[in-house]
Amino acid sequence: EDKKILSNVIANQEIHQQYGGVVPELASRAHQQNIIPVVDTAIKKANIKKEDIDAVAFTNGPGLLGSLLVGSSFAKSFAIGMQIPLISINHMQAHILAHFINEGKEVPNFPFLCLTVSGGHTQIVKVESPLNMQVIGTTLDDAAGEAFDKSAKILGLPYPGGPQIDKYAKNGNIRAFTFGKPKINDLDFSFSGLKTSILYTIQAGIKENPNFIAENRQDLCASIQHAIVRILIEKLQKAIQQTGIKQIAIAGGVSANSLLRSELKRIGSQEGWATFIPPFEYTTDNAGMIAIAGHHKYLKGEFVGQDVTPNARLKI
Ligand code: KG4
Ligand code: ZN
Repeated sequence: EDKKILSNVIANQEIHQQYGGVVPELASRAHQQNIIPVVDTAIKKANIKKEDIDAVAFTNGPGLLGSLLVGSSFAKSFAIGMQIPLISINHMQAHILAHFINEGKEVPNFPFLCLTVSGGHTQIVKVESPLNMQVIGTTLDDAAGEAFDKSAKILGLPYPGGPQIDKYAKNGNIRAFTFGKPKINDLDFSFSGLKTSILYTIQAGIKENPNFIAENRQDLCASIQHAIVRILIEKLQKAIQQTGIKQIAIAGGVSANSLLRSELKRIGSQEGWATFIPPFEYTTDNAGMIAIAGHHKYLKGEFVGQDVTPNARLKI
């Protein structure tokens, strides 16, 4: 309702934990099973009737095609059934627009820079207006979330690994282990070298001591988390120097990371940046961010027809 979220229901897919990562075919099957109960619950929790809904917004990409197809097919059917407009949303834009959920709190001024970090993407985005943004830096290989998840897998921690590493890092020493740093020009990122460096450190440790991981879990997590966050913050600093923009936001699943959040605040206040961190519940994938993006498109009358098709590699 305007910029307020009336309900934000998430169906977690625990099925993937036993495989150590998302299995696309299982994800789309779980979506298929969950979508009607989730929408039904969302309508009930919002305390509205489905007839009160003015438009339906759905993720058109980027993402796993099977999952996108479930969402887009449902949204199209709902729009026909209710005779309301259909709005297609770019998932990464929606992560950024999560900052505009709920009026009354401070929001970034345009233009601002957003470090958008998720399981599939790592981007620095220059945001000119809600629907006009450009990617000025991106990862050349793994995403930051993948770096967390793959490191966690090496440590034998369950999927998704980001929150696990965050948890164990709390009581660890960030300087216990050092890993190779990427040398990538411009505003682009690379995390595959870091992953290899972590793997070698752990393999060497286990060779000396079979209990290496168990005995060093907290220090390993703290050092890994610190290395990933350093890479992110250093590129952000470079982007700020290059653009002169000092309105700085973070978004996406990895923006839930406690060190990234605290480092952004700490360095931001030293450097005179205005920093914006999304509320925790709107960091990892959620429907609220799709709704707020839909709100902006609705105001502009940006609707799509039934012929719209999802795009797994949709760009901002
Ligand atoms: O945005 P998101 O929910 O899904 C994608 O669009 O990919 O991001 C998921 C990613 C996963 O890689 C997960 O490990 C990471 O966000 N993540 C975290 C934390 N919470 C979620 N990474 C580090 N620290 C966290 N606290
Ligand atoms: Zn996401």
